[in-house]
Amino acid sequence: MPKINTSASSGKTKKEIVQTPKGTRDILPNEMYVWQKVEEKIQAVIEYYGFKPIRTPHFEHTEIFSASLGDATDVVEKQMYTFKTRGGDSLTLRPEGTVPIMRAYLQHGMKSWPQPVMLYYNGSFFRHERPQKGRFREFGQFGIEIVGDGGAVSDAIIIRVLTLALEDLGLKNFTVHINTLGDKECRGAYRKELMQYFRKKVNYLCKDCKVRLKKNPLRILDCDKEECVEIKEGAPQMIEYACSDCKAHFKEVLEFLDELDVPYFLDHYLVRGLDYYSRTVFEIMFEEDQTESEVDKEVDKNEKKKTPRKLALAGGGRYDYLSKALSSKEIPGTGGAIGLDRIVELLKTLNINVGRHRAPKIFLIQLGTYAKRKSLSLMEEFRKSNIPLAQSFSRDSITSQLKIAGKLGVDYALILGQKEAMENAVIVRSMYDGIQETVPIPKLLEYVKKKLKK
Ligand code: HAM
Repeated sequence: MPKINTSASSGKTKKEIVQTPKGTRDILPNEMYVWQKVEEKIQAVIEYYGFKPIRTPHFEHTEIFSASLGDATDVVEKQMYTFKTRGGDSLTLRPEGTVPIMRAYLQHGMKSWPQPVMLYYNGSFFRHERPQKGRFREFGQFGIEIVGDGGAVSDAIIIRVLTLALEDLGLKNFTVHINTLGDKECRGAYRKELMQYFRKKVNYLCKDCKVRLKKNPLRILDCDKEECVEIKEGAPQMIEYACSDCKAHFKEVLEFLDELDVPYFLDHYLVRGLDYYSRTVFEIMFEEDQTESEVDKEVDKNEKKKTPRKLALAGGGRYDYLSKALSSKEIPGTGGAIGLDRIVELLKTLNINVGRHRAPKIFLIQLGTYAKRKSLSLMEEFRKSNIPLAQSFSRDSITSQLKIAGKLGVDYALILGQKEAMENAVIVRSMYDGIQETVPIPKLLEYVKKKLKK
């Protein structure tokens, strides 16, 4: 058994030890119900469009991320949770889901499956980021990928399905920001042009962007530091350098979106934070300003943030060269992922109810050992009939059990006392008017079903 760090050996107080690590949190039952509803709704749309579920490990060989996400990206440079195994291997907690999907596609020879392969996943991802509103070190994503198709229609389907999922959750005020990054040929010319542009302004760039200028000038477009955002405004735009094939592809994506009535905004400086993208990239943005609570406004004031921050609810794009970074094969792909933490938070702020947990309408009260034993098999009959039933088996007194039933707001209490247990009967008590009736157990289910129908 590994030794648990005690307060003495870690230097932390006991109070500090019983806290979740920075950037992580517990999701308690009431919020978990919202998460489950959100996941259910997203899954329903995604499954309808033909995506199939897949689950990959929470950690992978470090090389697959470092080889594909880009060494000048924040994710690879600063945010990966990387550790050595006892055998000396380097593993990394997955910072995102697309690379593992492509790894799985290659590993399982999905090329021989009917193409394209449409997959979805839902789970935790890990990035060592500075925690702030809507940004965590462990966060949930619902992702979809279409692997094995290079057509514009697949890009449009991804965006369409993600926006439909957001609409089904009751969200409205979001915009799809979209851009093209071209392919490896035409992007080369753009890179050169960007390099020249930023070189002239190098003294005004932030420290990180000075390094980015040497490694990958496109990354400067992704910097949110005030000084770099200002310089970016006059930078050349990719669309001016895109080759005719890339332009045609982008035009086709936009035509599909027009046809599907998906509102979009051409964001010529959108590059995304990961390097595996080519051609279409997009982000689904929500203007955070519209949702700020008084508390958040206060926090922002203290941080001297004047401009309304836009919140990315989802992001994605095409990744036609990703497979080449992992293998000798060239397999096109496109996809996107919704950030679940931000969605749940937003639903809460906007007071949108995604549906309630199916709350029990009856409560089973048991009094005495024999009744307790009997009530366990009784409960099983209700479960098999799919009727939710609440209970508190650890309590013994009728007063405390009735109190809980009252708090839960059930319609009926089923009281199984010692006498009733011997007689194989149950008292059904209406929680509204206190009227009680004794019902033989063999007739109980039907009796309760009828009562609940009324
Ligand atoms: P991403 O933009 O890094 O893309 O993440 C997608 C979404 O996950 C973001 O829009 C955001 O809502 C949420 N998210 C990201 N980081 C955090 C965080 N630290 N805390 C809370 N939420 C976060 C990807 O990960 C790509 N793999 C998406 C993709 C799929 N591209 C192609 N296929």
